[in-house]
Amino acid sequence: MRGILLAGGSGTRLRPVTRVASKQLLPVYNKPMIYYPLSVLMCAEIREILIITTPGFLEAYRSLLGDGSWLGLDLRYAEQPSPDGLADALRIGSDFVGDEQIALILGDNIFYSHQLPTMLQHERVLLDGCTLFGYPVADPERYGIAVTDADGTLVSLEEKPEKPTSNLAVTGLYFYDNDALALTRELTPSARGELEITDLNNKYLAAGRARLVNLGRGSAWFDTGTHDSLLDAATFVQLIEKRQGIRIACIEEVAYRLGFIDADQLFELGRRTGGSTEYGRYVMDVACASA
Ligand code: DAU
Repeated sequence: MRGILLAGGSGTRLRPVTRVASKQLLPVYNKPMIYYPLSVLMCAEIREILIITTPGFLEAYRSLLGDGSWLGLDLRYAEQPSPDGLADALRIGSDFVGDEQIALILGDNIFYSHQLPTMLQHERVLLDGCTLFGYPVADPERYGIAVTDADGTLVSLEEKPEKPTSNLAVTGLYFYDNDALALTRELTPSARGELEITDLNNKYLAAGRARLVNLGRGSAWFDTGTHDSLLDAATFVQLIEKRQGIRIACIEEVAYRLGFIDADQLFELGRRTGGSTEYGRYVMDVACASA
C-alpha cells in the first residue's frame, strides 16, 4: 500500500496567514499540522508516501521532511497547480501508486486513538474495494456524510447535505484498492468544478465494494480548516500531552516505535532538534528510556 498525503488547497478560511504560508505547515500546538496525518500513514505501516501540495509551497515541505530517509520513509513530492478536488490526488499520484493499494489522507485531518496502529493495520488486511472511516459529529452539514443501517452497513454517502440524515462524518482518510485509479479517470468535475472524493466513494458503494469503519467514541478526529477548529485541535493536543507526558504525532517517536529507525538514530534526531527544546528533549528521553 502506498500513501498519498494531500496538502494543497488555498486555505481560504484561514486567511490572512495562508496568503504567505501553507495551511498544513501551520502549527497545531507544538508541531506542524502535516506531522499528524503523516504519523497516521506511518501507523498503518506505510513507508512510501507522496506529498502533494501547491507549486509555491513545495520547497517548504521538502526542506522540512526531505526524502524521509531520516524516518525510515521514502517521501516523494508532486504539485497540484490548482485545487481541482480531493480525487484529483489519485490522478496526480497514479504513476507513484503503480499497481498498489492506496491510502489517501488529507493534510488537515488529525486522528487520535491509542488503537490507531492496530486498527489501521487490520483494515489494510481486510481492504476489498474501499474503506472509509466515519466519526460522529455535532455539525454534519460541514462534511461528507455516511448513512448506515442498524447493522452499521454503509447505505449512502452525501457531500455536505443541507439537511443531513445522519451525524456520521466521513473523515479524510480513505483506503482504496488499485481500481480507484481507473474509477477516478471516469469522474467528471462537480458543479463547483472539483473531482469529488464522494463521487469516487459512491462508485465503490454502487458496486457493493465500500465499507465504513465507525471510529466511534474511543477516539478523536478533527479537521483544522477554520480558526476555531484549528484552536480546538491544538487545545486537545496540549491537554493530552501535558496530562499524560506523551507526544501525539511525534513522527520521530512513531518511526522508532514501529521499528523504522533504531534508538541511536532517534537520539540523534532529538539532539539535532535541540536538547534545549522541549521537543528535542522528549525525543532524546524516549531514545534513552528504550536503550
Ligand atoms: O475533512 C473531511 C472532509 O474533507 C470530508 O468529510 C468531505 O467529504 C471532504 O470533501 C472534505 O471536505 P472539506 O470541505 O474539508 O474539503 P476541503 O475542500 O476543505 O479540502 C480538504 C483539504 O484538502 C484541505 O486541507 C485542502 C486540501 N485540498 C483540497 C482541495 C479541494 C487540496 O490539497 N487540494 C484540493 O484540490
